[in-house]
Amino acid sequence: MSRYDNIVGIDLGTSKTCVAIAEVVDEHSFELIGTGTSDSKGVNSGIIVNIDEATDTIVDALDKAIDMAGRVKVRDVIINISGKHIRSFDSNATVNIARGKGAIITEADVKRVIDAARVNASSGDEGEIIHVLPRNFIVDSESGIQNPVNMSGSKLEVDALIVTSNPITVRNLRTAFDNADLYVSDMVVSALASGETVLSLAEKEQGTAIIDIGSGTIDIGVFSDGNLVYTRVIPGGARYITSDISIGFKIPFEDAEKLKITHGNALPEFIDKNSTVKVDISGVHEREISVYELSKVIEARAIELLSLAKKALDVSGYMRYVRNGGIVLTGGFSLLKGVDKVAERIFETGVRVGFPNYTGPLFEMVNSPIHSTVMGLLSYGVKNERDRESGYGGPLDRILEFVRKIFGDIF
Ligand SMILES: Nc1ncnc2c1ncn2[C@@H]1O[C@H](COP(=O)(O)OP(=O)(O)OP(=O)(O)O)[C@@H](O)[C@H]1O
Ligand SMILES: [Mg+2]
Repeated sequence: MSRYDNIVGIDLGTSKTCVAIAEVVDEHSFELIGTGTSDSKGVNSGIIVNIDEATDTIVDALDKAIDMAGRVKVRDVIINISGKHIRSFDSNATVNIARGKGAIITEADVKRVIDAARVNASSGDEGEIIHVLPRNFIVDSESGIQNPVNMSGSKLEVDALIVTSNPITVRNLRTAFDNADLYVSDMVVSALASGETVLSLAEKEQGTAIIDIGSGTIDIGVFSDGNLVYTRVIPGGARYITSDISIGFKIPFEDAEKLKITHGNALPEFIDKNSTVKVDISGVHEREISVYELSKVIEARAIELLSLAKKALDVSGYMRYVRNGGIVLTGGFSLLKGVDKVAERIFETGVRVGFPNYTGPLFEMVNSPIHSTVMGLLSYGVKNERDRESGYGGPLDRILEFVRKIFGDIF
């Protein structure tokens, strides 16, 4: 990868669409050169409900990012995928290294066994495969191998996590980006993207659940031994807190949103029962609202949202993988005061709020849990490119990529 390759991440969220353009510095890092955000239209709880509106949103956010970055041509983009249709399950496969005893395992063999795990998974499930994530390689019964390339052996096995999506969702996403003249080079399940930048290597090793609660989705990912081992998406998010406030206090949604952000707190026990706040309703008249009552409304919904995540983890059986790393909350919901404490009570384990781990240029523009997904897409992009260059993508993929690039440059 050259110094001046750009990568572009686009997070199509329920409330906002965020574009981040970065220059790749080396195989481990990038520098942000532009960002752009636009209020999302045509997207609901991770799913496109109106393709034309989604395309307009993407173009609007991208134009803003390009304006900031200056003179960059964007065609390939890395995007996230979310929605309640996302599933994850295990698959495995074995291939023979048929070059005689003591043959050296090559990158092509690794690709072959990963492809075999993909084929094995596709026979049993209706969904479209988004990821085949190797968790463990086994060479001649020797387990726990992270990279078998250059080892000698006669049989190579892989245990992989398969992540699938509803094919219609994938098609609609591709169409929305196609219509914006963009090519989706990678589609990354949201929890994997957020985990990529929010979690430390130690957390991923030691067993941690990342829970990204945005406006309309709860994206859950469990990492253990360095890998994603489970992901699930539940509809639900912080906009339900806003609608509860709006309904509960009979104020417009926009005013409820402002009130939530300025005075919201999920721990009523720390609020003076007599404290009130004056709310400007639609800029027309004022209302006095009890901050304690506001906090009670927020607490109730925060407990419900977090309990949904806890139940999903309990049912999945993957809560036992959540060990030393505990729970890491990210997404806009995690900015609400006190939600980490509420989560600690529900999960009965340590909880922290996670931010993107980026500290380079323009970091102040993305230093928020609402940017975890988009920044994770960039981290994923850099890492994936590294894997591709080391051969996991295979020679055919690289030839196709080369042809596509030339073709794209001519037209
Ligand atoms: N400072 C804040 N305090 C409280 N809530 C906040 C704050 N900032 C954002 N939020 C809330 O977070 C939500 C948006 O979060 P985020 O940007 O992560 O969602 P999204 O990515 O658009 O949606 P999703 O991931 O669910 O598709 C909104 O409900 C918003 O009210
Ligand atoms: Mg989001």
